[in-house]
Amino acid sequence: MKLHGRVAVITGASSGVGYETARLLAREGAQVVAAARRRDKLEWLVGEIAGEGGKALAIPTDVTDSAQIYRLIESAYNLFGRIDILVNSAGVVHKIAPTEQFSDSDFRTVVETNLNGSFYAARAVIPYMKRQRSGLIVNIGSRVGKIGVANIAPFSAAKFALAGLGQAMGAELRPYNVYVTTIFAGMINTDIYPLNPNEEFRRQLMTAHDVAEAVLWTCTLPPSLRVDELPLMPRQLDL
Ligand SMILES: NC(=O)c1ccc[n+]([C@@H]2O[C@H](COP(=O)([O-])OP(=O)(O)OC[C@H]3O[C@@H](n4cnc5c(N)ncnc54)[C@H](OP(=O)(O)O)[C@@H]3O)[C@@H](O)[C@H]2O)c1
Repeated sequence: MKLHGRVAVITGASSGVGYETARLLAREGAQVVAAARRRDKLEWLVGEIAGEGGKALAIPTDVTDSAQIYRLIESAYNLFGRIDILVNSAGVVHKIAPTEQFSDSDFRTVVETNLNGSFYAARAVIPYMKRQRSGLIVNIGSRVGKIGVANIAPFSAAKFALAGLGQAMGAELRPYNVYVTTIFAGMINTDIYPLNPNEEFRRQLMTAHDVAEAVLWTCTLPPSLRVDELPLMPRQLDL
């Protein structure tokens, strides 16, 4: 098992990319701390991992609340004695609309979930990783965090900022043997889109498992290699 003895905290673990990443890392021997708001989904995940002989723990957490994030990271450390991997997968699109139709609250929800949540989690975990002199933070960014796309401006803005956060933290943490990878994902077949695209279109998208495989790869790099940014796209689409 490639991650035996490692401890991974995963936000957004109740569905989509976070869920599949939790399952895959646990299958490779990682002890997983699964965070999101929906307790029932997290408990289902923990049951599935346990059923496969893995170890996981659910800590219901709203990533927009920095106090809850501190509690999450502190609990993970107190229970397992180390934190090797943080995957920031919590995110929302919220709505698809022209810019002028986003209210203050719409904008805040998108930015606070995709950007602030990742910042809060990284800020809380960094002291532990620095002390260990090892660690990896994986941010699930987006292709629209590199190229602005119409009708999704708050999400695009949050993901651009997430990319900047990742670059800055990466430069800062490298001397401590702690690395940051931002994944720039094209469209993934998950429940995130409010428009609920039809089945035929969905089949052309990446799967959450595809992205989980990429996260696992970043967690198992040879010691001579680091990956700051990783674009992932569906084979036949530029979306
Ligand atoms: N799907 C795509 O096409 C696509 C493309 C590029 C990037 N991404 C990114 O991939 C990541 C995962 O999204 P997904 O596609 O897997 O969508 P998803 O299935 O909807 O998963 C989103 C996750 O975020 C969690 N979440 C939302 N708000 C939260 C909050 N305030 N606190 C804690 N957790 C919260 C949700 O859990 P709860 O509701 O239980 O809290 C859920 O587990 C996101 O960062 C997204 O921006 C997705």
